[in-house]
Amino acid sequence: MSRTVYLNGTYLPEEDAKISIFDRGFLMADGVYEVTSVLDGMLIDFDGHIKRLDRSLYELDMRNPISRDDLLKAHRELISLNGIKEGLIYLQITRGAPNDRDFIFPDPDETPQTIVIFTQNKPGLYDNPAAKKGIKVISIEDIRWGRRDIKTVQLLYPSMGKMIAKKQGADDAWMVEDGAVTEGTSNNAYIVKDGKIITRALSNDILHGITRAAVLRFGKEAQMQVLERDFTIEEAKDADEAFITSASTFVMPVVEIDGQPLGAGTPGPVVTRLRDIYLEESLKRAI
Ligand code: PDD
Repeated sequence: MSRTVYLNGTYLPEEDAKISIFDRGFLMADGVYEVTSVLDGMLIDFDGHIKRLDRSLYELDMRNPISRDDLLKAHRELISLNGIKEGLIYLQITRGAPNDRDFIFPDPDETPQTIVIFTQNKPGLYDNPAAKKGIKVISIEDIRWGRRDIKTVQLLYPSMGKMIAKKQGADDAWMVEDGAVTEGTSNNAYIVKDGKIITRALSNDILHGITRAAVLRFGKEAQMQVLERDFTIEEAKDADEAFITSASTFVMPVVEIDGQPLGAGTPGPVVTRLRDIYLEESLKRAI
């Protein structure tokens, strides 16, 4: 069945949603995006995602063409029109479609930005079987650009990373730079050692995950110890547990790194507890 999607203020069937070949999102990856999860038909951490969207737009010298309230209305309308109980809402804003290809940014008064929002129905996001089993990751070099804190649609390398992992029989890849793990291809990376949760500190090197912020806060509130510092792949392989966080996986155990099982090779107590706490607390705050 065809989805109803949002394009520049209009709701229409996905097959009728068309964008210019001159759109800078298409030609230059000149656009930003957000992915917000839906549980029980409600949005998880919507305001966190909108705040990061504002920041991404600001960092790229792009205007914000739509208010938080109008975005909320559009997200809720699409959830309702498409009957989403569990899934994701994808939002993308580009610098729009000038009359021709040009490296120079178009005048924002003359070129309206493009806003696209669509739903992805994902039953089983909450009760994800992968969370009971855990996932396998491999390590790859991080060769992305230096502003990974901006959530741009330049996703070729993350996509390639997932393909390299798939070819090696793994589920995802952790990226490594100067000997330290930066993050997963589409998620933040963590290890657990002697009960302590260790994850790289925020900087331009990684995306400032909305799930990360919530998980660290809930973890601290539950008296868990959190260390924000670099860790190496060798340290990760020697960890008691490991996991990733993102809007699409929440808290997901990692049970194998570069073919080496962690602990018993099954999800450990810290990650299992963190996932439960995260889901419970996030649902309480969902809108
Ligand atoms: N990815 N790091 C990277 C590189 C990401 O692409 C993402 C999110 C995260 C986690 O951020 P958050 O907790 O705010 O989802 C970290 C989304 C889910 C995606 O591209 O589909």
